[in-house]
Amino acid sequence: MPLVNTKEMFKAAYEGGYAIGAFNVNNMEIIQGIVEAGKKLNAPLILQVSKGARAYANHTYLVKLVEAAVEETGLPIALHLDHGPDFETCKSCIDGGFTSVMIDGSHLPYEENVALTKKVVDYAHAHGVTVEGELGQLAGVEDDVNVSAEDASYTNPDQVYDFVTRTGVDSLAIAIGTSHGAYKFKPGQKPQLRFDILEEVSKKLPGFPIVLHGASSVVPEFVEIINNYGGEMPDAIGIPEEMLRQSAQMAVCKINIDSDLRLAMTAAIRKYMAENPSHFDPRQYLKPAREAIQGMVEHKINTVLGCGGKA
Ligand code: G3H
Ligand code: 13P
Ligand code: ZN
Repeated sequence: MPLVNTKEMFKAAYEGGYAIGAFNVNNMEIIQGIVEAGKKLNAPLILQVSKGARAYANHTYLVKLVEAAVEETGLPIALHLDHGPDFETCKSCIDGGFTSVMIDGSHLPYEENVALTKKVVDYAHAHGVTVEGELGQLAGVEDDVNVSAEDASYTNPDQVYDFVTRTGVDSLAIAIGTSHGAYKFKPGQKPQLRFDILEEVSKKLPGFPIVLHGASSVVPEFVEIINNYGGEMPDAIGIPEEMLRQSAQMAVCKINIDSDLRLAMTAAIRKYMAENPSHFDPRQYLKPAREAIQGMVEHKINTVLGCGGKA
C-alpha cells in the first residue's frame, strides 16, 4: 500500500468514535518506534514533519524513511506537514511526496487566513493531498513562533462553517485550551478543556473532522525519570488522558503528539547514560530510546486514541 491521505482515515475515525495519532518525526529511531507500535496494534498512523524537522533532518531523508516504514509495515500511513507556515512550504511538500499538509494561518487576520488556506487547498486537492487549516491560537512554542497564554485565543464557533466552506479544507484544528510543549498548565491550576466549544463547533460542522494540537499528556512517569537522572523539568504538566479520550469520542479525529515522544526518548537516554557511564556506542542508547517511543505510542493507541485494530 502506498502512502495515503487522511480522507478515509478521518471518515472511519469520525464514524467509529476514535482518533488517529499524529506523531512528529525527526529521525529514523522515532519513525521506527512509532511504526513498530502501529504494526503491533494494527493502527493507522499519521507521521508529521514540522518546518524544524525538515531543517534538521532534510526533506528527502524523512520522505524516504517514511516510505521505508510503509514498505516494512504495510500500514495505512499519511505523511503530513505540521504547521505549514506559507504556500511555498506546502507546495514543496506536496510536490515532494507528502499526502497531507497543514497550512497554519491561525495568527493571520481572518480574511487573510481564508485566502491563504484556500490557495493551499486548491493546489493540494489538484494533487490528491488533504489539507488541515486552523482557527484560534494555542499557547506555547512551535518552531520559531512563541504564543503567550495571554495572546492565545479560543476558536470562535461562529466562524467555523464560513471558514470550512470558503476554503474547502478537509479538517480543522481548533483551540480549546490545549497548548504546545511540556508546560501546559501552571502548578496548582486545574487542567481544563473547553468541551462546550468543541460541542458547538461539531454542531456547526456535522461529520467534519476536528484536530487537536498540543495534546501531549506529559506522562509524569517520564518527567520523573528525567528529573531523577539529572534533568530539570519542574512543573511539567500536560492534558489529562481521559479528556483526550473524551475528545476522540467526539468530533476529534486527529490528536497531535510530540512532547510525549520527546520526553520518552530523553528519559530513556538519560537513564541509560547514567547507568552505563562507560558506553559510547550510539546504538546502545538509541535502542532503549526507540523502545521507549514504541511503548509511548502503544500506550497512546490503547488509552487515548482508540485506533488499535483499525488499520
Ligand atoms: O507543534 C509543534 C511540534 O511540536 C513540532 O515542534 O517545531 O520544534 O519541530 P518543532
Ligand atoms: P505537544 O507539544 O502537546 O506534543 O503538541 C504537538 C503538536 O501539536 C504538534 O503540532
Ligand atoms: Zn501543533
